[in-house]
Amino acid sequence: MEEAARLVGIDEFVKGLAGLPGIAPATVNPYLAAQPVRPETLQPYTFFSAASYTRNLIFKNDLFELIAICWEIGQASRIHNHREQQCWMAVPIGKLKNQNYRVVERDPAKKTCRLTASHACFITPTQHLEVDQGEPVHQVLNLAEWKERAVSLHLYSRPFSTCEVYSLEKGTYCDVPLYYTSEYGKLSAGEAAALSR
Ligand code: SIN
Repeated sequence: MEEAARLVGIDEFVKGLAGLPGIAPATVNPYLAAQPVRPETLQPYTFFSAASYTRNLIFKNDLFELIAICWEIGQASRIHNHREQQCWMAVPIGKLKNQNYRVVERDPAKKTCRLTASHACFITPTQHLEVDQGEPVHQVLNLAEWKERAVSLHLYSRPFSTCEVYSLEKGTYCDVPLYYTSEYGKLSAGEAAALSR
């Protein structure tokens, strides 16, 4: 019989990540499978907003950043691409759907594109996901029908501050800045009132 992986606190999880001999599929995938995070230890990084999912910085160095994303029921990311950065997602609380998109056409001069939906899968407390570098355009969704909040951990290497978002309806794409709702457990400047825990 397969043994259940041992849950670890977020501090131990970060320490282990920072000690890996590099952030690469060969080191990160077995690490994520073997070290699911104990949900209650994410409490300092957990802020929900009715307006949008929130991005909460847990750790950052030159090589990687680790963010907790808090999803209210029914919230979703935009369709986006992290531009050649490696990305992994784990979901200690709730579950998420990841929908990939194939870029069928792209015109960098006009910033237009055509996408078609491709592979989709679920990310759960026992199943993490590595973003497919061959088809990195994707959307993450906490489906309303599940009727529960979710908290996911996103490991990005290297850290980045912008991403490319795509509009299926308009057939366009553009760069957008990324933000942190909170950093190391403290709300970022300008974030406040409408957040709940
Ligand atoms: C984000 O980082 O804001 C979006 C979540 C993702 O990585 O897919």
